[in-house]
Amino acid sequence: SPRCKKIACIGAGYVGGPTMAMVALKCPDIEVVVVDINEVRIKAWNSEELPIYEPGLDDVVKAARGRNLFFSSDVKRHVGEADIVFVSVNTPTKTRGVGAGKAADLAYWEGAARMIASVSKTSKIVVEKSTVPVKTAEAIEKVLRRNCSDPAVQFEILSNPEFLAEGTAIEDLERPDRVLIGGKETPSGRSAVEVLKSVYEHWVPAERILTANLWSAELSKLTANAFLAQRISSINSISALCEATGADVGQVAHSIGTDSRIGGKFLNASVGFGGSCFQKDILNLVYICETLGLKQVADYWASVVSINDYQKQRFVERVIEAMFNTISGKKITVLGFAFKKDTGDTRETPALDVCQGLLQDNARLYIYDPKVTENQIHADLATPKFEWDHPGSRTPSRKQDSIKVLQDPYEAAQDSHALCVLTEWDEFKKYDYERIYDSMMKPAFVFDGRNILDHERLRKIGFIVYALGKPLDPFIQKPYS
Ligand code: NAD
Ligand code: UDX
Repeated sequence: SPRCKKIACIGAGYVGGPTMAMVALKCPDIEVVVVDINEVRIKAWNSEELPIYEPGLDDVVKAARGRNLFFSSDVKRHVGEADIVFVSVNTPTKTRGVGAGKAADLAYWEGAARMIASVSKTSKIVVEKSTVPVKTAEAIEKVLRRNCSDPAVQFEILSNPEFLAEGTAIEDLERPDRVLIGGKETPSGRSAVEVLKSVYEHWVPAERILTANLWSAELSKLTANAFLAQRISSINSISALCEATGADVGQVAHSIGTDSRIGGKFLNASVGFGGSCFQKDILNLVYICETLGLKQVADYWASVVSINDYQKQRFVERVIEAMFNTISGKKITVLGFAFKKDTGDTRETPALDVCQGLLQDNARLYIYDPKVTENQIHADLATPKFEWDHPGSRTPSRKQDSIKVLQDPYEAAQDSHALCVLTEWDEFKKYDYERIYDSMMKPAFVFDGRNILDHERLRKIGFIVYALGKPLDPFIQKPYS
């Protein structure tokens, strides 16, 4: 059967970079080139300071870069030479026009497909690595076929969605629960699946490589993310009920998680899920269902996003109520801005909505995150979330002087009225909270949006603690209970 000698990957982002670094590490016989139109990003991939932070990534890149792993902005040349082209471009939510706020924007994908068609002199396997709506392969195939002038060139399209999570990408890539490959049920489709399978078989046990038809593979990715997010919204909805009844969401999660049919993972109540994928992919699923006339199905999944918005709002309201119904002019320390620990990524971070909510009530925010840069935080807080939220306005909506980004958590907490934990960074557990307490205004509040701190200890020190989904501190106002 045909072998793969060269792989090109279009898109050097959070998925393309780490994924291809792992392929190159495990397949020394294959040349792997990651290409991107963003030259700054390519330059960073070729430097000592990689463009994304991911534990273990540096070692993998260093081991393979220059050997059989390359990063290049010569997109056309490397795509033209490749046997397999992975497409790992961004597929964000459309911000305007038909389907705005829900549908996936496939403009980058289509642009990539047109480019592939125009430079192809040999037949290629084109792999959907990006998360795309179900049936995208059909559209991509049309674009490829109609834009390639050489009739001898054949394109075979595969769906190979990526299941890595940020912060654990390297682990997830090295030992995946499964690799999923969808292809056409034709002889050439099946043989393309075999070629891609042979790449993964360099390190993934054969029984973990699942094959499916194209539409199942595409839909499995959206479904997996919808199920994962649904677990979080389910436990978060219960966290509100716990606070109203005196139950403890940690105990409830543990009790249900030991049922092997439910399982214990992904049941941590939080201030809300974030990240570039969950909301985008559920909204996309909702849009597809609506388009197909499946209103009840659309409504069911849309509620996962509504509960997530409710949870973020509920957190902000707790802070304001507990602090005597006013945070105006008060200094509030925000610990953590990334959407989860071990990443510098802030896309759709719940911290953004919480900070916006606190600023709305005129708080002054002192923000500390171990990995997110000061520029990133300012840029995020200055940008309206979607254009339709603030029609006609693209200008920063917030006075920058009510937001300070600090490099030191103790400095961020100095003279503050409250700490809000919005990301579950391990280092937050190790701080000297006596020292922090002494430097704060009194009463000193802690709002733990991730339930990672030792609440009993904090109470002994003197803090008034709000822990999500846990019995309420008597000091905290109780309009809900
Ligand atoms: P990203 O924005 O970090 O990277 C995408 C890159 O593609 C950018 O650097 C962009 O410049 C480049 N690009 C866009 N159009 C191009 C073109 N025509 N030619 C060359 N380069 C082009 O995005 P990401 O987080 O890596 O996500 C990529 C895809 O993978 C998305 O569909 C996403 O849903 C999916 N996904 C993401 C994750 C995750 O954890 N981030 C996990 C699984 C799947
Ligand atoms: C997710 C999927 O897990 C991954 O398989 C897919 O490929 C991309 O989308 P990612 O968004 O990188 O990965 O991180 P994930 O670990 O899923 O966390 C997403 C959000 O949910 C984070 O904000 C996290 O803090 C939150 N979360 C996660 C909870 O609030 N509670 C949990 O129990 C788990």
